[in-house]
Amino acid sequence: MTGEKAPIGVIGVGWVGLVTAACFAELGHPVVARDIVPAKVEALSRGETTIHEPGLDDLLRRNAGRLTFTTEMDGLLDAAQVLFVCVDTPPTYSGDADLSRVRSVVEELRADGDHVLAMKSTVPAGTGESIRRDLPGLAYVSCPEFLREGSAVEDFLHPDRVVIGAGPGDDGAGAAVARLYEPLGGEIVRTDVASAEMIKLASNAFLATKISFVNEIANVCEEVGADVGEVARGMGLDERIGPSFLQAGIGYGGSCFPKDVSALKMLAGNTGYHFQLLNAVIEVNELQKRRVVGKLEKHLGSLLGKRVALLGLAFKPNTDDMREASSLVLAARLQGEGAEVVAYDPVAKERAAELLPTVEMSASALDALDGADAAVLVTEWPEFAELDWAEVANRMARPLIVDGRNFLDAKALRSAGFEYEGIGRAGEGSPSPAAAD
Ligand code: UDX
Repeated sequence: MTGEKAPIGVIGVGWVGLVTAACFAELGHPVVARDIVPAKVEALSRGETTIHEPGLDDLLRRNAGRLTFTTEMDGLLDAAQVLFVCVDTPPTYSGDADLSRVRSVVEELRADGDHVLAMKSTVPAGTGESIRRDLPGLAYVSCPEFLREGSAVEDFLHPDRVVIGAGPGDDGAGAAVARLYEPLGGEIVRTDVASAEMIKLASNAFLATKISFVNEIANVCEEVGADVGEVARGMGLDERIGPSFLQAGIGYGGSCFPKDVSALKMLAGNTGYHFQLLNAVIEVNELQKRRVVGKLEKHLGSLLGKRVALLGLAFKPNTDDMREASSLVLAARLQGEGAEVVAYDPVAKERAAELLPTVEMSASALDALDGADAAVLVTEWPEFAELDWAEVANRMARPLIVDGRNFLDAKALRSAGFEYEGIGRAGEGSPSPAAAD
């Protein structure tokens, strides 16, 4: 390929789709992105970003001339040969992945023979094979996405690895997709389709396992007088273990981990294999959110009528995403115990207000904390480390805090007059290195 970069099609303009579209445009490709929601397409066509993602606004603005948003499939099919499918595959009530959106895209492509379908949506292993059988004229490539929300643009442009799965008949299509990623420099892993699908599910399930593991270690640390931050640091220096994803807290959330762990468990179950370990990973994650209530009760007794301030609502910092956020379970549990819940999040306020209509939303952290009987740090937004905690202690009815992310300096808070509870910080509890970044 010389000069002109190949045009690219993106189907489904959610988190993955929009970042994919913007980043390929940044690499110089003309991109046509299609979504079935007209309001979203109109907003993006006017230059308004539909999600909060660092660096994305700039990318969209800078590459506006190369980006077209549309609701029509026809224009997209005319414009590009490689089509990245980025529609969502949320969990159903049974815990299986909901493939209905993927299936309807496949239905729309049925009549078309001359395209490469590059599947970015996370699908159970075996899905690619069944689509391939269904659409024999189309080349199929599995190209799972590993980007993290909050650093999605950075992750896309600087991948650790790019996984590309293609069947024997689709080698050329696999190579064409691989070429698109070559300028990014990450190692390109070429596999068959089912293995690529499994790499995605297994990677997320493994990371979730690491988190549930360290959360259980934290719970034991509380019993034996150890500090999980120190334990994780000592473990992480072993290069076979590594330091990442050993941050104890009130559990993982987000659009990927809960769904993918459950999808892998169900995928195994559907084949007759009982994936014991993943059951425990899920259960530990659920229980971890509930332990906060016990910690508050230890100090306050009954929570009936107590005012509890939640600091942070998004499932992690630098995003306004509320999907499977721990705050949702926590707010419901606190209200279920009769507490009055007030909350503040610097970015997710609006999204959260729709999901938590009975929670009072504050305009600032100080407003939320004013007069509260207790605070719970749910999301480690950097601005919470900057609060004047001595002033906060004066403003609260009772300076009691459960630091659900081990983000704050326990010693400093205690000297500011706080009763401080972390997660697995039976010792003094210095802020964890990851939290202090
Ligand atoms: C994750 C994967 O990292 C990414 O590769 C995949 O494509 C999508 O799922 P994301 O959901 O954006 O990305 O968030 P991530 O930063 O991985 O965090 C997930 C959750 O785990 C958050 O709720 C976070 O608070 C929690 N977490 C993470 C911990 O509790 N402890 C840790 O040590 C790390």
